[in-house]
Amino acid sequence: MQKKWWMESVGYQIYPKSFYDSNHDGIGDIKGIYEKLDYLNHLGVNLIWICPFYDSPMDDNGYDVRDFYNVYSEFGTLEDVKELITKAHGLGIKVVMDFVLNHTSDEHPWFIESRKAKNNPYRDYYIWHDGKMVDDKKVEPTNWGSFFGGSCWNYDELTDSYYMKIFSDKMPDLNWKNPKVRQEMIDVGKWWLELGIDGFRIDAVSHLDRARLIDIKNQKDKYPLDWTKFSNLPKVHDYLKILNESLFKPYDVLTIGEVGGQATIEEAKKYAGFESNELSMVFNFDHNWCNNLFDITNPKKLKTNVVDLKKTFDKWQKAFATDGWMPLNWLNHDQPRLMSQYGDYKYPLESGKMLATALHMMRGTPFVYQGEEIGMTNYPFEDVNDFDDISSRATYIYELEKTPDDPVRALKVASLRSRDNARTAMQWSKDLYGGFSLEEPKISNNRNYKRINVASQLNNNNSLLNHYKKLIDLRRFSAYKDIITYGAYEQIDIENEDLYIYKRILDDKVLLIINSFSKKKLTYDMSHFEITNIVISNYKDQKLKNKTLILRAFESIVFEIKESL
Ligand code: GLC
Ligand code: CA
Repeated sequence: MQKKWWMESVGYQIYPKSFYDSNHDGIGDIKGIYEKLDYLNHLGVNLIWICPFYDSPMDDNGYDVRDFYNVYSEFGTLEDVKELITKAHGLGIKVVMDFVLNHTSDEHPWFIESRKAKNNPYRDYYIWHDGKMVDDKKVEPTNWGSFFGGSCWNYDELTDSYYMKIFSDKMPDLNWKNPKVRQEMIDVGKWWLELGIDGFRIDAVSHLDRARLIDIKNQKDKYPLDWTKFSNLPKVHDYLKILNESLFKPYDVLTIGEVGGQATIEEAKKYAGFESNELSMVFNFDHNWCNNLFDITNPKKLKTNVVDLKKTFDKWQKAFATDGWMPLNWLNHDQPRLMSQYGDYKYPLESGKMLATALHMMRGTPFVYQGEEIGMTNYPFEDVNDFDDISSRATYIYELEKTPDDPVRALKVASLRSRDNARTAMQWSKDLYGGFSLEEPKISNNRNYKRINVASQLNNNNSLLNHYKKLIDLRRFSAYKDIITYGAYEQIDIENEDLYIYKRILDDKVLLIINSFSKKKLTYDMSHFEITNIVISNYKDQKLKNKTLILRAFESIVFEIKESL
């Protein structure tokens, strides 16, 4: 197997708006990331993925790009980005940025041109279509719904036609069938790579091809959302092979695709198999839905389906066991917080450490999402106006339509699932605004920063932050480096409803990773194993009686073992 630097790396995802505000105007910025690089270096990560910082009207926080060759002014300047890359490289940290291929902002010059006339040279940069006549009324070309609510078409009076937009109205979809669009995006990529970027997280990459324009059969919704209409369709692979040939391969860069649309294993392997010549790896979301989040309104009712979670991890680990590579991440900027989903508020330290160990000991490249390492939690939204995120507002509206006289329910549902939970100001210290800024943040600032913050955990050896640091250290620098990075993964006792147990195996070395997802006291028979070392754990001691391991709430231990008969 070919070994690559990114297989031996640990990544950290940064949402620039809420990471650190260096000039104290209430918004995070590039210089803020620069200032916190020493912290990231101390944590031990050697790869950062920064969410979009392109010039943008910020309809979707930067995923709506107005100018691919410039930086959003409130985040800083191109000079700031160059300085950030230089400093990061000096510390041995690679820098990966978001590459948004599926759409631009409607304020992008290509779209401004495209709208003007049907014969405009930029018309074909986007997906335009005439409306359809239904009962003497002009309607959208298809009834397909969009991710952010409503139709996936938007009407434009100027030329009396519709453009496709699977996200917001202000995010028209690019037409990848057009070779000029492909060339433009290759040019954008080259330009950033020349500037020193080490790779891309490729946004919404599975959506670049669309199905035939046929209505979805669905009586319930006016605009049903059917991912299969624009996810993982055949031409996506052709486009990625072109990008690989002319951009990724010549620069030998890391590419991590965001593969939504419930990609199957076969599909994921097409994207990220070693022989596929498309992407280095793909983020999948299957493990994000292993609870009842979509059926409840009361967060106290949230329950993890541990078996489902274990089976999901197993499926992906097996799929990428030999002929491909995968990233390891719990959640990201599009999901509620890990501690509020799979963690336990009564045992934040134990459950937080257990979740970290469970993920970081698997095979793949781990990514920590900002604030996860200190156990940041969901935000207590009180009003729909607390939402900055366009999709959270859309969820609220959609839910309110279902129960118009119960806005409280709609707010609860939207809050539980809101992406804004992950986008609150990073909690650096117990100082005002959590040390994020000296000014009141223009984003939500969780009031629990006095309790949960970086400063208080940095020098506490027992903290969650230091557990992450230890895990990263184990993977990057310890005697277990090779087994953690390249060892085989094998799950055992897969039907156990509380314990997630797996082995990592390399030559004659074996690690046994035991994670309890329960607050109950549990036991596990260790008679088949001879323990030779305790590599990392989340309790001060281990309770082993007559070869029976007694596990306390959310206990997690990594043993080095020898298997005996
Ligand atoms: C991806 C991003 C998300 C964004 C969407 C549209 O899913 O992670 O934040 O809203 O693409 O660009
Ligand atoms: Ca700022």
